[in-house]
Amino acid sequence: MTVTVAGTATIAEKLDEGLAAVERVMLEATDSQVAVLRDASRHILGAGGKRIRPRLLLLAYMALGGRDLERVARPAAAIELMHTASVVHDDINDHGILRRGRPSVNAAWGRTFALLTGDFLFTAVYELMAPYGDLNEDLASAATALVEGETLQAVAVKDNDFSRAVYMRIIALKTAALFRAAGAIGAKLAGARPSEIEALSDFGFNLGLAFQIVDDILDLVADEERLGKTAGIDMDQGRGVAVALGADNGNGRAQAGDPLDAIKRGMLEGDTIDKARKQADLLVDVAVERLGALETSPATQALVELARLVVERES
Ligand code: IPE
Ligand code: IPE
Ligand code: MG
Repeated sequence: MTVTVAGTATIAEKLDEGLAAVERVMLEATDSQVAVLRDASRHILGAGGKRIRPRLLLLAYMALGGRDLERVARPAAAIELMHTASVVHDDINDHGILRRGRPSVNAAWGRTFALLTGDFLFTAVYELMAPYGDLNEDLASAATALVEGETLQAVAVKDNDFSRAVYMRIIALKTAALFRAAGAIGAKLAGARPSEIEALSDFGFNLGLAFQIVDDILDLVADEERLGKTAGIDMDQGRGVAVALGADNGNGRAQAGDPLDAIKRGMLEGDTIDKARKQADLLVDVAVERLGALETSPATQALVELARLVVERES
């Protein structure tokens, strides 16, 4: 990105600065005296990841005129830690053994310590958010939604009821709610007006839906090494976007138990993936349209770029 802002730093440079502060805060917040918690946290945090949620929060903040990125590093770190906790627990549930290019916490430390590490990361969120009053409500409702979404997903698989409508409800809760909170919190920290907060919330929410749809497509079409996480398990376990669309296409309900290769071949031959991609594109368009409520700036342009990256990414 080459856009410049008043002053010397570009938005990309400011963002990098903010993200570096987020890394420092996360490391400090997870520095437990209990070696296994500290080591497992460092293992998953040190593996990197896209950091899309703190990016979104920081850019939303800058898009509404916020300039002090050190000040917002704590809530941005809290959002990323909540997400990280959720993937640590998710890998236990999904039997994922690879995450961010490394053995998952459950693969390296076992189920008990993975559960506790996820808990530990969640509790670090409380500590980081303590000074932020009302913003805790945004994050708390996103946390509730995330757990509800993961639970509804498990219920849908168990009941073999994975329609498109169920799928959309699940991804709204398990993924888009946290993206919405990132947009809302960034905007609120910048002292935005209610209409601006609403716009950034909607931007985050629609982007989150698109993000999860693309994630589910990649689970199906990308190879594991590139993804850096265990692939094919959504389909294997009878969930994900292709299963949902397949159900609505009359291709049968959730197909857990079928040989994975045969299911994959069927999906790739049909137009299921194309349809899912179109839906993700549409959601990104809706997200970008909501930015129209804000004054255009290098930071809003960076948000548009972030949104486009979500659908164009290959890992
Ligand atoms: C993975 O999220 C879980 C989903 C909601 C799809 P990310 O794809 O953001 O994971 P990292 O943080 O980059 O590893
Ligand atoms: C991600 O769900 C976990 C949460 C959103 C809580 P998925 O199972 O779809 O994500 P990956 O593919 O394991 O990253
Ligand atoms: Mg998973």
